Amino acid sequence: MTRKTLIIGNWKMNLTMHEASLYLHKLMEQLPVRRDVEVVVAPTMLTLQSLSLQIKRRIVKLAAQNCYWRDHGPYTGEVPASHLHGMVDYVIIGHSERRHIFMESDKDIRFKVQAALRNRLQPILCIGETAHERTLGETREVLQDQIVNGLANITAEEIDHVVIAYEPVWAIGSGEYAQPSDLAKVLKVIRQQITHLFGKEAAEAVRVVYGGSVSVDNASDYLAVAGLDGLLIGGASLDAYQFTEIVKKAHKE
Ligand code: 13P
Repeated sequence: MTRKTLIIGNWKMNLTMHEASLYLHKLMEQLPVRRDVEVVVAPTMLTLQSLSLQIKRRIVKLAAQNCYWRDHGPYTGEVPASHLHGMVDYVIIGHSERRHIFMESDKDIRFKVQAALRNRLQPILCIGETAHERTLGETREVLQDQIVNGLANITAEEIDHVVIAYEPVWAIGSGEYAQPSDLAKVLKVIRQQITHLFGKEAAEAVRVVYGGSVSVDNASDYLAVAGLDGLLIGGASLDAYQFTEIVKKAHKE
């Protein structure tokens, strides 16, 4: 089974409406239309509707950075997956900033994955160990737990639409990054766990991307890792030129 390479830019809480629109204009001018790579950006919630009218989805797609899991009701300040449907193709769920700054629990994350799938959005489920867990040698167990908790109650058919983003917390925005040569072990743990839960076919279909201090300089090393299907980029995605350079490196055709 061939899995399409996925390059995602997570803009986090950056780029105003005006800046985002200029950025996408530049990106669509610079990016060649190629079928072998799927390009996705995740702007702030407020800009999504307007940007969804501006983008050409053949070139770049949109992701939300979060969503709420109930479809409607008295939940002041939340944006449900049901309202994102039609505007975005993907939604990032369980980013470590949401887990650690906004105290999202495993239950929240599990419900959000289910809400995304229910509303025909593809969840990008973020998992990754903290520096402390890494020092204790608990990476494997942490990843297994996050997969089991994040994907409980979904079916083997639904897993095809899920993207797993391995983002070690210690590598996010720190300039310190996971060695590409160390990723093979992590990819094995992730696919073994998916096999255990959903079977071998599902494990081969699911895309796994890496995030954490990815830059123009190290992107090619990750893209060469067997079994890794792409990148989730924070800081380096804020600059349209750098992001485009990384996308170009991902093209194989
Ligand atoms: P950086 O690329 O800035 O380390 O951020 C990674 C990230 O959190 C993407 O979701």
